[in-house]
Amino acid sequence: MLFEILLGVVTITIFLLYGYITKENLKNLPPGPKGVFWFGLKIDIPNMHLDFTKWWKAFGDVFEVKIFGRRILVLNSPETIRKAFDSEEYKTQLNHRPPNFIGYKICNQYKCVLLRKYDATFIAMKKEMIHSMDTHGFQSAHFRSLAADMMNDVVKDFTDLNGRPIDPMNVLRPSFCKMIGTLFAGSCSHRLQQHVADFDNHGDQMIKPQIHGVYKKFPWIRWIPFQFYKRLYKLVQKIKKDLQKELLFDLRNTYNTKDIKCMVHQLFRSQELQALEKGKPWLTDDHIHGIAMDLINTSILTTKAVMSGFIFLMLHFPEMQQKIQDEIDDVIGQDRQPEVDDRKNMPYIHACIYECLRYQSHLPLTAPHFNRKKVDIFKFTVPPKTIIFGNLFACHHDEKLWDDPWTFNPERYLTDDGQLIDKNHPNMRK
Ligand code: HEM
Repeated sequence: MLFEILLGVVTITIFLLYGYITKENLKNLPPGPKGVFWFGLKIDIPNMHLDFTKWWKAFGDVFEVKIFGRRILVLNSPETIRKAFDSEEYKTQLNHRPPNFIGYKICNQYKCVLLRKYDATFIAMKKEMIHSMDTHGFQSAHFRSLAADMMNDVVKDFTDLNGRPIDPMNVLRPSFCKMIGTLFAGSCSHRLQQHVADFDNHGDQMIKPQIHGVYKKFPWIRWIPFQFYKRLYKLVQKIKKDLQKELLFDLRNTYNTKDIKCMVHQLFRSQELQALEKGKPWLTDDHIHGIAMDLINTSILTTKAVMSGFIFLMLHFPEMQQKIQDEIDDVIGQDRQPEVDDRKNMPYIHACIYECLRYQSHLPLTAPHFNRKKVDIFKFTVPPKTIIFGNLFACHHDEKLWDDPWTFNPERYLTDDGQLIDKNHPNMRK
């Protein structure tokens, strides 16, 4: 017992000494709540946005907190977020990502978009990602027709239930995986759909801040046998290999320059053009693999959250559900399937989607941003290696910006005669 107490005292003393020695003497820092010495503040990690929103009320639009020696800058208004992440002056400095385990170990040393630093490769990769997604996603007749078939299948699955209760995500989630698999490969075998679902499932686990934080601080934990972190790491590595086989090796065999039907083939084509131009493409197979892993994690997680949130709202607001049904009956009727182009004739549904995104703020914080060098912004100094979050939840519920922000009210996006407000209307610009 005495030994344990001694060990505890020694550990705490080392921590305190380390905190004292590494204490910076910085001036002009943003205001913020003070915590205990090096340990900083206690925070509920899965619900960080709620703590941040509480401190925003006390310290204003720009504040900083310290958690386990790590500086975190939180931006709580659209102006501060736009200035930091989207202005020419600051975007090259404040759009990096903090060093992270997944980017390094899973995405082949940061050969991805979501988790890498903001550099020329990031900009080029994002351009390739968007271009290939645009040409082979909803802009493509082939994809639209497959998406319509998938929608029919979903409708049939729900109809076949004959009113039996089910978690709607059990029907919807496989269709999201199939949609992403189809985007990548032009069609989606059952096996590819399963790999996408597995990567979504286990990648989601690994990226949770409380789990990822452990991998980041103690990367060797993945080698310690008989425990969760080793099992999860092995599983994610295995699914990564499965995806590589399916998306890179198998699709390479069917690649034909003259008949490009899917996103991965389009990326192969970019490789080819780069090779013709420069001799060696910068876009390697690892980059394409990274783009695919990025898209699985970013698209399915968010779509699941938005769809389940939307269903939840419709259960609470049956009168709005009825209005949506009326708009569908008016615009599409009973005799044909919906088409992407129908969207522009459905202002009420649009308004409900915007309001759902605002009201529920499915991603309440931006992804973590990071600065590599000292930055002076908002009359404050941001020391190097600060983690920076945009608090979207605060922006979406700011009484200064929204009338009655805690009320779900799609009408705020509609004109008096029921049309969608203009894209320059203040409620769209916020
Ligand atoms: C309503 C659903 C969605 C929401 C609320 C959402 C929200 C976000 C947010 C907050 C970020 C972080 C931005 C930052 O901090 O820099 C992000 C990044 C990203 N999202 Fe989405 N997203 C949604 C759907 C999607 C979908 C469907 C896709 C792909 C098909 C996608 C692809 C991405 C990618 C690739 C990034 C990384 C971009 C970068 O680092 O610059 N997202 N998203």
